[in-house]
Amino acid sequence: MVDSTGRRRADVLVKGEAIAAVSEAGLSPPAGALVLDASGCFVTPGLVDLHCHLREPGDEEAESIETGARAAALGGFTAVVAMPNTQPPADCAGVVRQVLDAAKGACADVRPAGTLTVGREGKRLAPMAELAALGVKIFTDDGAGVADAGLMRRAMEYASALGVVVADHCEDASLAGSGVMNEGALSSRLGLPGRPAVSEEVMVLRDLALARVTKARLHLLHLSTAEAVGAVQAAKAAGVAVTAEVTPHHLALTEDALSSYSTLYKVNPPLRTSSDRDALRAALASGVLDAIATDHAPHPPQAKETSFCDAAPGMTGLETALSVVMTELEVPLERLLAAMSWVPARIAGLWGVHGGPVAPGSPANICVLDPSRRWVVSPARLASRSTNTAFAGRELTGKVRHTLLFGEPVVVDEEAQR
Ligand code: NCD
Ligand code: ZN
Repeated sequence: MVDSTGRRRADVLVKGEAIAAVSEAGLSPPAGALVLDASGCFVTPGLVDLHCHLREPGDEEAESIETGARAAALGGFTAVVAMPNTQPPADCAGVVRQVLDAAKGACADVRPAGTLTVGREGKRLAPMAELAALGVKIFTDDGAGVADAGLMRRAMEYASALGVVVADHCEDASLAGSGVMNEGALSSRLGLPGRPAVSEEVMVLRDLALARVTKARLHLLHLSTAEAVGAVQAAKAAGVAVTAEVTPHHLALTEDALSSYSTLYKVNPPLRTSSDRDALRAALASGVLDAIATDHAPHPPQAKETSFCDAAPGMTGLETALSVVMTELEVPLERLLAAMSWVPARIAGLWGVHGGPVAPGSPANICVLDPSRRWVVSPARLASRSTNTAFAGRELTGKVRHTLLFGEPVVVDEEAQR
């Protein structure tokens, strides 16, 4: 077992929704118990994703809460934060209730985020107090940054008073323009319009300053540049209440993938240079970057099978996230699991329910991970309704064998049970 309290060898007994016993001396299963084989595996708290797009309501051709939650469970996640850039967006109580209703019976605990502004238009604040009363803990206009600094300040003041988190998609649209990949020598060579790294840094610096004066809890989504990491490090040293996430694709890939012109690698913020990637890896290892989040962004084939400039940005990630970072990074497993389970559980306000520790009395939200299992990513065999993975054909090492959601085995032997 690996959790926030350390590593040990033990048997775990689950009864109903909770962990009933953990024994280093071993347990003999009660009559009639379902026995899940975890030999050669790590038993860990279920993973928690701070950032995924489940596309419901409105874009069910790409994904639904049911299919996205199934993909999440297969990836070892027991809780996911569903981004509010749906159609219509989750900017009012009605849509948040609709998501919560659709999430009943899903393979993962789906927690809706709410928008910061009405319609994600960046003009008027969404009814944040009303959404917070429904249990929404994360507010974001993800997909785009909030351009108006005065409005962002007000959003942070409300968030601070409500005790919720402002999550920030950091791209200044006036700098990012209509760019479709990282701006630099390679974008010039490929003849594709660029999105400069500084568009991220500008918004990170602005919002760190606003978080300092408003005392709001700020979470920075999918950081991609060395400069942003440096800014976060300085702000943390100065006592700003900020956390930050990085995606598996920004940790594993660079802009070099774009030489193929494959739209599967088009994503916002774009894949950057190898020195950015190295800075992200170092910041993850040191804890300057707190969490790994998937930014699972499913799109239907016609949204990707078009010209590079017209293609939708984003790639799927729930089923590959843990395997990709285990395969690509030389970071101790404890640090990876912290960044994917107990640290995001705290950021999302789910501590005590998700993220462990694996101890008697805790809800049985558990992931069983086989670290030596090798597998090849085959898009058609993934559970997501969309196939736009950037890791098709890759051999990865490490795979989730079982997932338990409140004691229910939702994945057994790599197969979803609902
Ligand atoms: C996301 C999407 O498709 O909704 N796309 C992306 O490129 N990351 C939006 C987002 O997370 O910004
Ligand atoms: Zn985003």
